[in-house]
Amino acid sequence: MACATDAGKLEEIYSQGQIAERIAYLAKEIARIYGDEPVVAVCVLKGAFAFFSDLVRAIDNPHLEVDFVRLSSYGMNSESSKHVIFSKDLETDIRNKHVLIVEDIVDSGYSMRFLLDQLLVRQPLSLRIAALVDKRERRSANVLVDFAGFVLESGFLVGYGLDYAERYRALPNICELKFVAAGE
Ligand code: IMP
Ligand code: MG
Repeated sequence: MACATDAGKLEEIYSQGQIAERIAYLAKEIARIYGDEPVVAVCVLKGAFAFFSDLVRAIDNPHLEVDFVRLSSYGMNSESSKHVIFSKDLETDIRNKHVLIVEDIVDSGYSMRFLLDQLLVRQPLSLRIAALVDKRERRSANVLVDFAGFVLESGFLVGYGLDYAERYRALPNICELKFVAAGE
């Protein structure tokens, strides 16, 4: 599927069916790792909302809790992504609990590194990462994704929670946004 928008061209990379298949697989893996032990699944807003919602409902664990964080990067230059703050923190006390962070995309890894460091000092029993997309080309921070939906080298993705300037989050599939230069 391809369609032109004013921002660029959208090309489907992962269909609704492919996403559902991967989530079913990840949910089984996650359920196997935690068994019936309590686990706090942490949704990283906004981008992970669709993935999170589908994933937690597919994990067979009666002791799974949900909570939400939101991160913001600040600064004006390209280095700014290294400076991350919470714009919404957890409400749950995670000390001595298993924690599963659910993120949309791990790209440079700076946001995830920040979140890992913030949560590790709260002494969770374990801390793992599920990411819809593990995008490796620009990885600079030391972050390993435990459960990856899809592994990709590069490309700017939108849909299924992922945005470009807040657009396209509600698309049911994942598309690559191919930017078109002005005048093209
Ligand atoms: P980081 O570079 O790993 O810190 O990525 C930070 C955030 O940038 C991710 O969690 C996404 O929300 C966003 N991001 C990175 N790559 C993409 C993309 O291809 N599409 C939409 N958002 C992205
Ligand atoms: Mg994100």
